Amino acid sequence: MSKSITGFSKLSKSHKIDWIVSTYFNNNPDTKNIIEQYWNSNFKLQQLHDEFIENTITNYYLPFGVAPNFLINGKMHAIPMAIEESSVVAAASKAAKFWSERGGFKAEVLSTTKIGQVHFMFHGDFKILQNYFKTVKPKLIEATKPITKNMEKRGGGIIDIELRDKTESLEGYYQLHATFETLDAMGANFINSCLEQFAKTFREEALVFSAFSKKEKNIEIIMSILSNYVPDCLVRAEVSCPVKDLTENPSINPEEFANKFLQAVRIAEVEPFRAVTHNKGIMNGIDAVVLATGNDFRAVEAGVHAYASRNGTYSSLTHAKIENGIFYFWIEIPLALGTVGGLTSLHPLVKLALELLHEPSAKELMQIVAVAGLAQNFGALRSLTTSGIQEGHMKMHLMNILNQFEATEEEKVTLIQYFKTHTATHSSVVQAIKNLRKK
Ligand code: MEV
Repeated sequence: MSKSITGFSKLSKSHKIDWIVSTYFNNNPDTKNIIEQYWNSNFKLQQLHDEFIENTITNYYLPFGVAPNFLINGKMHAIPMAIEESSVVAAASKAAKFWSERGGFKAEVLSTTKIGQVHFMFHGDFKILQNYFKTVKPKLIEATKPITKNMEKRGGGIIDIELRDKTESLEGYYQLHATFETLDAMGANFINSCLEQFAKTFREEALVFSAFSKKEKNIEIIMSILSNYVPDCLVRAEVSCPVKDLTENPSINPEEFANKFLQAVRIAEVEPFRAVTHNKGIMNGIDAVVLATGNDFRAVEAGVHAYASRNGTYSSLTHAKIENGIFYFWIEIPLALGTVGGLTSLHPLVKLALELLHEPSAKELMQIVAVAGLAQNFGALRSLTTSGIQEGHMKMHLMNILNQFEATEEEKVTLIQYFKTHTATHSSVVQAIKNLRKK
């Protein structure tokens, strides 16, 4: 049976579902029910979600949680987190409370420059290309005025455009490498519109540049696109406290804990296999806030991991030291975020998340997101270097298993109590449910 279809996008939502259910699910009515169960009864809200993407058939829910008690630069925040993984919100909340009693998080934005490039091929004399660039640069800026006017009024816009010779890596390859300040907008549309205008003007003006030979006039634009690598859009967040205050648990020696913690960070700095998992834990916090605030987590992920490899080896995003009896733990990451434009004014939950965060500027959001990453990493390393990760993790996972087995409220209470003193693994939970149901 052929499973390809022409004109799928033109079908109505219910016809799309019918086609999927009949083609892939043998007309199983349960499939249709599952899809429709996630529709929102509020027609307008459903329509809003339908129109975010193409070929929408239903909604995909993620839990939206809140981690309170984040003291950041002296201001208290409850941080919204959209994530499916158990333990993440609990770990963030625990780390937030811990550090709120030790001065809180200090965060600062180090830079806010974003980047976009026009990639083109040129076969001719580089000196003449340089002369051409000098003449055309003011025209490139002038041609984008209709796009940049409003951004400039607010203090942003194009910072600079450079001509870059990339022929050592690829024959005939050059770039217009442009830098931008996009203020509270993530800036993707703004940057891409500017770049496409640069490309158009750059190519048109070349055709009438008298110093170019016929071949040189024919500049071939390959593509114009922003870069999600933003090493000059950087934020730093830090916590510190006397080593002696580093544990609340009297059975853990604070010096030993601090040293073990430092070694765990060092390992992630030098060992890529560990660094990837270490950074994954950081991204648990970062992505959850990025997603809750309607930002592009794929862009953030790509940029952050490129930054983690900037010295040639994939390495830790966080660092730690002990100096004069004080423990310092910090993160430095590139984050291109927006608090205006995009989903921020469209998605009701995104609006709510930003309101919860007191309507932050993009810079403030960068600080909050970096702090969420640092808190997450602190929580993970604290568990890993003391009790191990499974103890807390399985307790949280317990709920998922109980729900999977459709445990009643009464069964849940009994089993949660039981696993306070027994090791929870997937099989031990399943066994306990079976035992309980046998009784
Ligand atoms: C799990 O989602 C994240 C951790 O593996 C992070 C880490 O190992 O640092 C716990």
